[in-house]
Amino acid sequence: MAIQRPKGTQDHLPDGSPKLSLDTRAAAFQYVRQTAQRVLERAGAQFIDTPLFEEADLVKRGVGGSTDIVRKEMFTVYYFGDHGGYILRPEGTAGLVRAYLQNGLKQLPAPLKLWTHGPMFRAENVQKGRLRQFHQVDYEVIGSADPLVDAEAIALLVDVVRALGLKQVKVKLGSIGDPEDRAAYNEYLRALFTPHLDRLSEDGKARLERNPMRILDGKAPGDQELIAELNVRPMLDFLGTEAAAHFGEVQAHLDAWGVPYETDPSIVRGLDYYRRTAWELHHEGVGAKSALCGGGRYDGLAQELGSKEAVPGIGWAFGIERLLLAMEADGVELPPSRGPALYLAAMDPENVPLAARIAMGARDVARVEFAYRAQKPGNAFRDAERRGATWAALIGSDEAARGVLTLKHLQSGEQREVTAGDLSNFLSENA
Ligand code: HAM
Repeated sequence: MAIQRPKGTQDHLPDGSPKLSLDTRAAAFQYVRQTAQRVLERAGAQFIDTPLFEEADLVKRGVGGSTDIVRKEMFTVYYFGDHGGYILRPEGTAGLVRAYLQNGLKQLPAPLKLWTHGPMFRAENVQKGRLRQFHQVDYEVIGSADPLVDAEAIALLVDVVRALGLKQVKVKLGSIGDPEDRAAYNEYLRALFTPHLDRLSEDGKARLERNPMRILDGKAPGDQELIAELNVRPMLDFLGTEAAAHFGEVQAHLDAWGVPYETDPSIVRGLDYYRRTAWELHHEGVGAKSALCGGGRYDGLAQELGSKEAVPGIGWAFGIERLLLAMEADGVELPPSRGPALYLAAMDPENVPLAARIAMGARDVARVEFAYRAQKPGNAFRDAERRGATWAALIGSDEAARGVLTLKHLQSGEQREVTAGDLSNFLSENA
């Protein structure tokens, strides 16, 4: 059998490919990225790009040693003569904050709004919407702890999702407090779960030891049963005064702007860098356990990565594949892809280079394609239609001698004679 792509990866394919689905359609990925770009750049976000692989320590210290990502899902990069201490990035935030610190971006007006997109890598158990290489759109605001920034970030996420036409989505908003609030909550959870150790899965036991909050986020059904039985108090009950006030302000802004959200006291998130505001975006069609987007504040991350100063930050990222699955479930129609404005074919072999030259000369204004071999009229028009062209033209010896083209509008059948020199003008007005 011919070599296949690795498990948990997908090819993004051109329109017209057999068996194309929305989450493998390259044009759909482009559409989501462009829509996000429009919304985010109007809010002042600038594009940033960082490497696909980073020092393993960046992820271990940033994302956190108790997370599934670091414990089970890292792709390590080895190459000849190297120590093998790099990993393929599992998410974008730690790398962006590293880039902010390393490149002195603090000197730019604060808060700095950044956005990026690209592939992320996690060696997960593969299932629908859970891949080993997936793609995120990521928005980060660095340099302000103001609750107004949190509220704006959430509002922008809702704007992006609305611009994409999604309907059945819910923002589930919570707060995981300051480090001391989390420590108190973890102590409470440890005391609550320790007497029931024998009922926890191996994974649950490991979570209880390393970071009890992570139990609540676990996937083992037995653990989830125990959680339900024990009537576990939510993190929100443990917020200190400052974190509670901050959370109250975020909610007040969202309420005043009419941004829809639900308070979810049980939000814990799967990465260690979060503090205070944390949220997820869910969709009924994609399944309760699979968020479309996750986000939150990470005021301690810069210091975790070695910065002497604290640098507050907040952001979110959505998985484009999951978003596309949700769009499919909501029946969202993407704009159809457009074919060339003009398809040009020569009827005799000696005029093929002329057709090519005319086609290439008109590409400053429109998409123009040409036939690489001489074609009979029937074949040329059939090919033009298969490509979805608006106009088609044939060059015969008469047209070549007179320097004109007879353009046929494929839908209406209308015919227009245009000189080769006027072609660009014609296409810019009629394509
Ligand atoms: P996350 O919750 O780990 O957060 O991932 C964000 C989104 O990426 C998820 O909601 C999901 O749509 C998508 N995603 C994650 N893992 C997979 C997977 N294996 N297959 C398909 N899609 C997946 C972060 O990554 C944080 N960096 C978000 C953030 C930005 N927080 C602050 N700033």
